[in-house]
Amino acid sequence: MKPGSEQAMKLGFLGTGALTTALVSGLRSRGVSHEIYLSPRSETTSAMLAARYPNIVRAQSNTSVTESSDLVFLAMRPTQVEAALEGVSFRKGQVVVSFVTGLSLQEIAILAPRSSVCRVLPLPTVEYGRGPIICYSTPHVVTDLFSQLGDVIPVDTEHELQALGCVSGFMSTYFELQQSLACWLEEQGVSRRNASVYVRSMFAGLANTAMHTPFEGQSELSARHETKGGLNERVRRHLREQGWFKEPTEPLERLQGLARSSLD
Ligand SMILES: NC(=O)c1ccc[n+]([C@@H]2O[C@H](COP(=O)([O-])OP(=O)(O)OC[C@H]3O[C@@H](n4cnc5c(N)ncnc54)[C@H](OP(=O)(O)O)[C@@H]3O)[C@@H](O)[C@H]2O)c1
Repeated sequence: MKPGSEQAMKLGFLGTGALTTALVSGLRSRGVSHEIYLSPRSETTSAMLAARYPNIVRAQSNTSVTESSDLVFLAMRPTQVEAALEGVSFRKGQVVVSFVTGLSLQEIAILAPRSSVCRVLPLPTVEYGRGPIICYSTPHVVTDLFSQLGDVIPVDTEHELQALGCVSGFMSTYFELQQSLACWLEEQGVSRRNASVYVRSMFAGLANTAMHTPFEGQSELSARHETKGGLNERVRRHLREQGWFKEPTEPLERLQGLARSSLD
């Protein structure tokens, strides 16, 4: 959908934290001009967004957000949901989109009776219109909105959503790996700027290659990026011998156990 060509909607956010900031910034920087209502908590952030972009209102209350909006996004932490929805009512035809990790569709339907509920798990990368966005039980209007902000991944079950969501637990590890390579370069006397640009640009280039390689070519990418007896083959063999590539399994299974216990 071309920016500006979409049907006008009113979007309401309950919770104006990290994810809402990334989403609102992503929408506005892509020219998506829907009216936006923000809940008043996180005063500095909600006031900053309302001042920075056109057509954004910092509402007086959570109730005022839901009364004004066609789509309502639940963007607070799991432990904050109950207090945030106290005294808030939803109407028939309204769509409630929950970002809240661990809150099942059934639980959302109880908290937001009469509305049509669905779950979406975007990442902060939506700020730059990139990254995966998991959509479960979403109507077209929601899928179309998010398709402007990254790669929509529709799933058929909440278990699939949870498994994919667990892998997002590797975002900060990715940045730490990037940082540790850049630090090593600095220790070798490379300037901070060159070390940082080199590592970030290398990973960005590799990610770009992966996104442009068809599914069937994915398993060959490692081999395509190493020369017999060369740097890459040596590093990968060393790390494989250390069991490095099996390490992600344990934290993933722990995360999945946590997610499962909150669903069952
Ligand atoms: N960040 C991610 O990468 C990511 C990815 C996928 C899903 N999620 C999920 O998305 C949700 C939001 O994540 P986040 O990272 O944006 O969290 P966050 O930065 O902690 O933001 C939470 C927001 O909720 C507000 N809030 C708390 N109680 C409230 C209430 N009673 N009424 C209205 N607003 C209230 C907070 O306001 P105060 O600052 O005033 O407390 C804050 O603005 C979480 O459930 C998270 O699991 C996050």
